[in-house]
Parts: sequence; C-alpha cells; structure tokens
Amino acid sequence: MSAKTLPLLGGAKVPVIGLGTFSSTDSKEGVGKAVLEALKAGYRSVDCAEMYGNEREIGDAIREFLATGAAKREDLFITSKVWNTNHAPEHVAEACRRTLDNLQLDYLDLYLVHWPMAWEHGGRMMPTESNGKAFKMAKVPLHVTWAAMERLVDEGKVRHIGVSNYTELLLGDLLCYARIPPVCNQIELHPYLQQKNLVRMCQSQGILVSAYSPLGQPTPGRAVNLLEDPVLQQIAKAKGITSSAVILAWNVARGIKVLPKSSNPERLRQNLAACSEVVLSDEEMKAIEALDCYKRFVGMRGTFGGAHVFERATGAGRLPGTSAL
Ligand code: A2P
Repeated sequence: MSAKTLPLLGGAKVPVIGLGTFSSTDSKEGVGKAVLEALKAGYRSVDCAEMYGNEREIGDAIREFLATGAAKREDLFITSKVWNTNHAPEHVAEACRRTLDNLQLDYLDLYLVHWPMAWEHGGRMMPTESNGKAFKMAKVPLHVTWAAMERLVDEGKVRHIGVSNYTELLLGDLLCYARIPPVCNQIELHPYLQQKNLVRMCQSQGILVSAYSPLGQPTPGRAVNLLEDPVLQQIAKAKGITSSAVILAWNVARGIKVLPKSSNPERLRQNLAACSEVVLSDEEMKAIEALDCYKRFVGMRGTFGGAHVFERATGAGRLPGTSAL
C-alpha cells in the first residue's frame, strides 16, 4: 500500500504519513528495524533528526531497503533537522553533511530548523549553565541560520527547507526575510492540542503543517492517554477501527501530514492504512474539534530550563485536572 500525498510550495508532493523516529525507549537498532519494516509496508517518508542519535541506523535501513529494488531514492521523502547547538552558518553546513553521511544519502528532501533557539556549540547537545537551570544561549539570530539553510538548497544538498516548533510570530518574521520560504512547519498536533491559529496561518501561506506526536505519545502509566478519550473511542467503535486511526484520519482530512512513531509491525500497517482508508463525517470532525484543551505532551517547560517556549494557553477548554501547558 502506498500513502496519499500532499502538495508542497513549489509543486513537489509529499506522502501524507511519515514514520517518526524519535524514541526515548527503543534502541537505535530497534528504530532501524522499524524503518525497514515501515518502508517494506509502503511508507515512503521518514522523519529524522541528528538530535535523535539514530541516523546511522536509519541510513542502514534505507540502504538495505533500496537494495531490494522495491523503490528508488527519488520515491522516498527523507526529512532531517539541524539541532539548536548548530545554528551558526558553518555548523549548519557541517551538521547537514554529518546527517547526509549517516543517512548515506546524497541529498535530503527536507531539512528543518529543529527549534527556534540557538545554544552554545561545541559541547553537549543540551548545554546548561553551571546552575543547571538555564541553557547556554548562542548569539546566532534565526535569520542567519535561515540564510545558511537557503545555501544548502542552492548547493543541492537539500531539496526543501522548513522549520519546526515555530509560532505564528516567528513564522511571520521569517516570511518577511526568507529568500526561500519555508515549505513546512512541524509542530506537536493532536486533538488535545489543535493550534488552530497557527495551522490557519501556515495553510494560508501554503506552508505544510506536519504533526509530531500525533497520537499524544500514549505511554502506559501516563496520567492522560489521548487514545482513551471517550469521544474518540466512540467514533472508533462506531466505525470498527481504533482511536489512533480516527486521530490520524482527522489530521489527514485537514491536509496535515502525520508522523506517528511505531516499532510494532501491526501498528505500522494500521497507521498507514488509516491515512488512506478512513473517512470521517462532518459531525465526527466537529466532535474531534471540540476536544481541544491545550495539552502539550512534549513538555518543553522542563526541557528548556523552565522557560516557556510557547505561549501559555488561556481560556476555556482545559483538560480537567491538568495544567494548560
Ligand atoms: P509502539 O512503538 O509500541 O507501536 P506518537 O507518535 O504520538 O509519539 O506516539 C508514539 C507511541 O504510540 C509509541 O509508543 C507507539 O508504540 C504508539 N503507537 C503507535 N501507533 C499506535 C497505534 N496504532 N495504536 C496504539 N499505539 C500506537
């Protein structure tokens, strides 16, 4: 089975589903195995990042898959991201070279600025001040990083460039100076965090929205499990599918690319099928829209030294018993 596609600025097409590869639990080899399994099942897009630390294993899997002759390089859409410590122009170029080397590719289809903030280069991936409470920032403005990203396109190392975790204000700023506009903004997006204004802004500018953690990172023991939401379960039951399939189909219906992660062969297939086979009614779409409660599962409040990277959500619609962010 092959996935549906969505248009990119400039005319290219991207598969509507890509395999997410960030894992805090799976081994690097496990992620490589999942990538190979996914490609064999019909996935044609893989979402990587140097920060995830597994690009060599993913590259091995891609090479092994291409060697079977089941698809050619140009049939694949491979994304990676430049990490916060590599925002200076020379480091953007080096990071891209390393990623290409690890993924064993001549070019990337899409290269993203992973987070809109620059950290000190040369030490750890997460360089903190000695008190451990703040990240060591680097004096590299985002427009300088973007110009380095544009050079990668000029040099043919990457086909498209985009951003991740950008807010409306940052995107608006970027669009004022970009020689090559971003084709994509990859953000956390699921029924509990719908980011409606940001999605509207991206789509009005022709910028593809890609949803990371589209299933809300359902981890056993977590206080909130999106997959157990009663509304989603009710829709799923009525259609004889799973709540994950409902969530993925909801995003696809809105022209949003989804990046679910799975290392389970059966779920890999289910997720792929959901993106092309499940159709939701207007009523079901509206019921899901009403679930928005500003719940972020990627808790950057802790990660970024206590700083709020994103604006704190205000207003009604909070998940009962949880904080807004
Ligand atoms: P597994 O690898 O065992 O399939 P997200 O993409 O939102 O970060 O969620 C990733 C998590 O969701 C993984 O732990 C993955 O577990 C699980 N997952 C992926 N697909 C499904 C599915 N169809 N049903 C239930 N859980 C899923």
